[in-house]
Amino acid sequence: MTSPLLRVDDLHVTYSGPRGDVHAVRGVSLEVASGETVALVGESGSGKSTTAHAVVRLLAPSARITSGHVRFDGTDLATAPARRLRAVRGYGIGLVPQDPTVSLNPVTTVGRQVAEVLRIHGLADRKSAATRADEALAQAGLPDGVAHLYPHELSGGMRQRVLIAIALVARPALLIADEPTSALDVTVQRQILDHLDTLTASAGTGVLLVTHDLGVAADRADRIAVMSQGRIVEVGTPAQILHAPKDPYTKSLIEAAPSLNTSRSLVGAAGEPGALVKHGAAALNPNGHVAEAAPGRDGREAGRGRRARSWRVWREAARNERPDGRPRASPPPREPDRGRQPDHPGPRGPRPPQGVPRPAPRAAGWSARSTA
Ligand SMILES: Nc1ncnc2c1ncn2[C@@H]1O[C@H](COP(=O)(O)OP(=O)(O)OP(=O)(O)O)[C@@H](O)[C@H]1O
Ligand SMILES: [Mg+2]
Repeated sequence: MTSPLLRVDDLHVTYSGPRGDVHAVRGVSLEVASGETVALVGESGSGKSTTAHAVVRLLAPSARITSGHVRFDGTDLATAPARRLRAVRGYGIGLVPQDPTVSLNPVTTVGRQVAEVLRIHGLADRKSAATRADEALAQAGLPDGVAHLYPHELSGGMRQRVLIAIALVARPALLIADEPTSALDVTVQRQILDHLDTLTASAGTGVLLVTHDLGVAADRADRIAVMSQGRIVEVGTPAQILHAPKDPYTKSLIEAAPSLNTSRSLVGAAGEPGALVKHGAAALNPNGHVAEAAPGRDGREAGRGRRARSWRVWREAARNERPDGRPRASPPPREPDRGRQPDHPGPRGPRPPQGVPRPAPRAAGWSARSTA
């Protein structure tokens, strides 16, 4: 068996403050393989962001990793020297931070901010970095000319796409996306998550997707890790987590999830709100979320590995299908998103197979909030 791209072992993180210590992460272990999307879900304050940021050691100054290991590309990032961390950030691991409003530099054009990642890692000279920044912005779904604009001139959805371009421009092997769409309306959220899927799938990128939304996790992830009070209480495929949750906390999360309905709450006559839509082998609620365990088209259990992506196909189909099973005349209208453009393949085509060496990064990067 090949080793995972990222392996976190028994990680502990503590914040120190005037009113004492907060033991925010208490023995977290998780793995992400190349090409796999793992969702980290849990209530607010459960330690998701702290875990995600601890992976790249971009924690608040008051935080420290007290024990544990973060193994990535042959290095333990929990104890790696600052120089090694700077080489990994942006190049080996891309991060889409939780808050787009404070994550972009307000006095620099977004094109320069994307290009800076390439310059910092010695991956391009000034001219080619600008060209590749334009490409990355286009691949993130932004229109021509955006590179010359400042963050305040963009909508929230466009700023989020800029952060995605920054995170992916160097084609990292792992992307950590911390609530990448939580501040956006559902239409833009879906478009951006679709785009993220396309870009990472084409490049074989591993993704650690942090979200408080179990519906998003079930829809997007190959595996879900449920986090509560600093611990991962359960890990499984979306089907396992949604339909056979073992931990009481997972059960309560499912009950409380606004974007999910249990089959119990979905039982209703065809055409009534809450009725299940049968589409292919899957039962979908009117929001398009899988509401019953079902075999995939290839006979494997829905939710295993890439089958999760089929759910979206079914979901899209269900969206175009009336509750009585007959097709709609045309798809429901989508709200316009100024940044929407057709999907593109990854910036440099498919990622080379694992083990193929890439040029060593030459310079340092990401210094803000670093504990390194
Ligand atoms: N800078 C900080 N200083 C002190 N405590 C902090 C700091 N940041 C987070 N914490 C605490 O650490 C715990 C975990 O916070 P964290 O931000 O990781 O949660 P989260 O699961 O990402 O929550 P959310 O869904 O709201 O983003 C919480 O108790 C929080 O109050
Ligand atoms: Mg958070």
